[in-house]
Amino acid sequence: MKKILISLFFILIGCNSQSKNSNTNNKGIGPVSEVIFDEQINQNQAKSGEKMFNQLCSSCHMINEESLGPAIKGVINRRSPEWIMNMILNPTEMLQKDPIAKKLLTKYNNEYMYNQNLIEEEAREIIEYFRTLD
Ligand code: HEC
Repeated sequence: MKKILISLFFILIGCNSQSKNSNTNNKGIGPVSEVIFDEQINQNQAKSGEKMFNQLCSSCHMINEESLGPAIKGVINRRSPEWIMNMILNPTEMLQKDPIAKKLLTKYNNEYMYNQNLIEEEAREIIEYFRTLD
């Protein structure tokens, strides 16, 4: 019995880390296929990302708590940077086709995140800001 419990424990741990991995391996659907972070956060980029976030995103997102959409703190760890940028740049298709985004849509009462027509560079600044929230 003990042996069974112990192996069950490891199977569960295994599944858990696997699902975490598959979340961060998912790059989403859209224009962004690779993001490479510098080790140091680029504070200028992050500042301008923060400004944009406050203007365009804070009506639906808070940093530490859920509101219309998910809390933003920690998102940089639970998703790949490519996925987050594709979600910002291509939300409609993401919400139709990407498995993680589809789940979120159900969880958040079919509230659609809409396309704000940002360019890649702006989305990149926003995720640089997200790096500072960790
Ligand atoms: C109209 C409300 C609304 C606006 C405006 C909005 N979002 Fe969202 N966002 C949502 C909702 C709701 C979700 C969850 C998926 C869904 O239901 O569409 C979401 C999901 C996300 C996610 C995924 C979070 C996770 O836990 O994986 C990120 C990242 C995100 N939004 C970033 C942004 C950024 C950056 C902006 C501004 C450029 C923005 N959102 C503007 C409503 C919004």
